[in-house]
Amino acid sequence: LFGYKSNKVSGFFEPIAHSKVDDVILPKGFKYDVVAAYGDVINEAGDTFGFNNDFTVYFPIDGSNTHGLLWVNHEYSSDVFVHGQPGADGNYTAEQIKKMLYVQGGSVIEVRRDEKGVWKLDTQSKYARRVTGLTPTKLVGPAAGTKAVNGAVNVQGTFANCSGGMTLWNTLLTCEENFEETSGQAGLDATHYGWVVEVDPFDPTFEIRKHTALGRFNHENTAMGLSKDGRVVVYMGDDKKDACVYKFVSKNNYVPEMGRANTALLTEGTLYAADLKKGKWIALTIEAVQKALKDEKFKVPSLIKATKEELAAKFQTQADVCVNTHEAALILGATPTDRPEDIEICPFDNTFFVAHTNNDNHGNIHGHITRFFEKDSDLGAMEFDFEIFAAGGRQSGFSAPDNLTFDSNGNLWTVTDISSGSLNKGVFTSFANNGMFVIPTTGPNMGVAMQFASAPVEAEMTGPWFTPDESTLFLAVQHPGENTTDPSKPTSTWPRRPGDTMPRPAVIAITGFQF
Ligand code: FEO
Ligand code: CA
Ligand code: CA
Ligand code: CA
Repeated sequence: LFGYKSNKVSGFFEPIAHSKVDDVILPKGFKYDVVAAYGDVINEAGDTFGFNNDFTVYFPIDGSNTHGLLWVNHEYSSDVFVHGQPGADGNYTAEQIKKMLYVQGGSVIEVRRDEKGVWKLDTQSKYARRVTGLTPTKLVGPAAGTKAVNGAVNVQGTFANCSGGMTLWNTLLTCEENFEETSGQAGLDATHYGWVVEVDPFDPTFEIRKHTALGRFNHENTAMGLSKDGRVVVYMGDDKKDACVYKFVSKNNYVPEMGRANTALLTEGTLYAADLKKGKWIALTIEAVQKALKDEKFKVPSLIKATKEELAAKFQTQADVCVNTHEAALILGATPTDRPEDIEICPFDNTFFVAHTNNDNHGNIHGHITRFFEKDSDLGAMEFDFEIFAAGGRQSGFSAPDNLTFDSNGNLWTVTDISSGSLNKGVFTSFANNGMFVIPTTGPNMGVAMQFASAPVEAEMTGPWFTPDESTLFLAVQHPGENTTDPSKPTSTWPRRPGDTMPRPAVIAITGFQF
């Protein structure tokens, strides 16, 4: 049990049972603090914490495990809880659109653990700020300023920020996932969204940039590592049914002494998609796409709703590959998979893990986690092998794996995302609420899932992130009470702080009782 010998959240724990309780349930010996919830004021300027928090990343201040900056993604809005009324049927007022864009994006908050062991938000922080759907950003890389993005370099804001990742140079990447709805409702050019976006939480003067070299799709996340010869490798999931697994490899080498200037590595390199039949990475280049389309034997894959002629007209330059990445990958024979969401590189052996949430198009109802083995354990390799590491279902006890993170014991932590419409119904009944599970990647319990946390009603736990010493686990509790139609009768009341009259997505800090 926690507290015997270590102060790590990642130490021993007694697994919990599935639960339908409207609260965050944790094993014996653990507690949680609500650090920031929707609508909380985060700084002296009066900026407020956004809605539906997702990815979190902790940046220590002066190396501290009890004081730092926390970046938090805000993925999407809610008519009921943001505008106070259900279903506007897509007809929003200008004021509502502004609010819908404001509650998405991300927050930089300053957090501290006090002498009593409670994590709190510092509202006097000089760093705390919002990045929203209204914040100026710019496109960088091969597609910036091209016809493929209608000439744009400077674009408005970021939204639909799902998961993300940290860079090796202490900035963060936040990923635009299901951007189509908001860009449509707000009347914004869709080619300006669906990118990986870089932010420096410590420096508001660092231009927020969208890295077009990393492709445009329903970006879930990034997982960054180095090839054996020192180039930066970024693995990425595209969260939709029948979508591919990607990696970007930079042209130039990472130079630690150059610090943040390494951001330039993400503007030049090669984007690859995985062919799971051949175990090969396919380079997504305009030359290859044009060659494939010119081949007389080429048949348009059934997942692409376009003719060969339309595709030939669409793919003129590398920028077109950046903007229409999923189509380029399918044209070149990359393998459609079952909603590839989060990806994590195992810190011990350079294997990487992909959460395939589910895909009811072909009966993968509970999803699975796939482990990839790059040739010679080199992240820059062009060949790989893979296996199903853990499968969702009754036996494993989890369904719909989504975000992943590793602890220093080699355990993989995963959170689940059974959609709130499916929870506690039919074949999802036995799982009860969504939760968090720990799965060892080595040893006698390899592949066995043990439940660590259970989410409030209709919520999903997202964005797990440990402090470097693993004494705290940050977790974002997203969309509690999502099926509410009447705001005066919410289906969840979590987190029930004094004065709360509705459920609020919130970031929590999980710690042990004892030191
Ligand atoms: Fe936003 Fe793929 O979850
Ligand atoms: Ca996710
Ligand atoms: Ca998800
Ligand atoms: Ca989600």
